[in-house]
Amino acid sequence: MKVHSRRFLVPLFLLPCFAIVSCWNVDGVVKGTITLPCTYQVTDPSVVNIFWRSEKGNILLDIKSGREDLTNQHMKYKGRVSSFPDNYKTGNFSILLKDVSQEDAGTYVCQILPQDRRTTVSLTVSDNPELVSQVVPPSDGAASRSCLHVFILSSLNLLLLYVCQIN
Ligand SMILES: *[C@@H]1O[C@H](CO)[C@@H](O)[C@H](O)[C@H]1NC(C)=O
Repeated sequence: MKVHSRRFLVPLFLLPCFAIVSCWNVDGVVKGTITLPCTYQVTDPSVVNIFWRSEKGNILLDIKSGREDLTNQHMKYKGRVSSFPDNYKTGNFSILLKDVSQEDAGTYVCQILPQDRRTTVSLTVSDNPELVSQVVPPSDGAASRSCLHVFILSSLNLLLLYVCQIN
């Protein structure tokens, strides 16, 4: 009985994680162009700010009050990043990264404020053009393995919040 009720509790408890964090795996090819996905339904794109960052904290793109802001963009990304302003109103804040190199492999975060919604994108880069650029949804078993740490971290985070609140 105890085991059963525990099993039931865990998924319920983890549900809010997905409202805060989502994670994607993207495969790119050297010299190719890839889309880094980030979507969030907003009623008015001019009241949100979007911050695209690399895992080192370098700025790829900011979207402030519905406009691209390139002021503090890292030189590594100069002329290589664009977004889809016509799609902001549908909550699509995805970006395109051009001229991909092996150095671009890694994790990117799209943070949306004030909602503090984060999308993590894990990019792998291949020399082999036969592994065509594609976006793999997080539900796709083996391919989403690199999203697992995001899931674990967000669960831990939530657990900590919970522990702090009851103490
Ligand atoms: C966002 O817009 C781009 C450009 O039109 C498109 O390629 C991409 O599929 C869109 N993403 C979603 C989730 O609709």
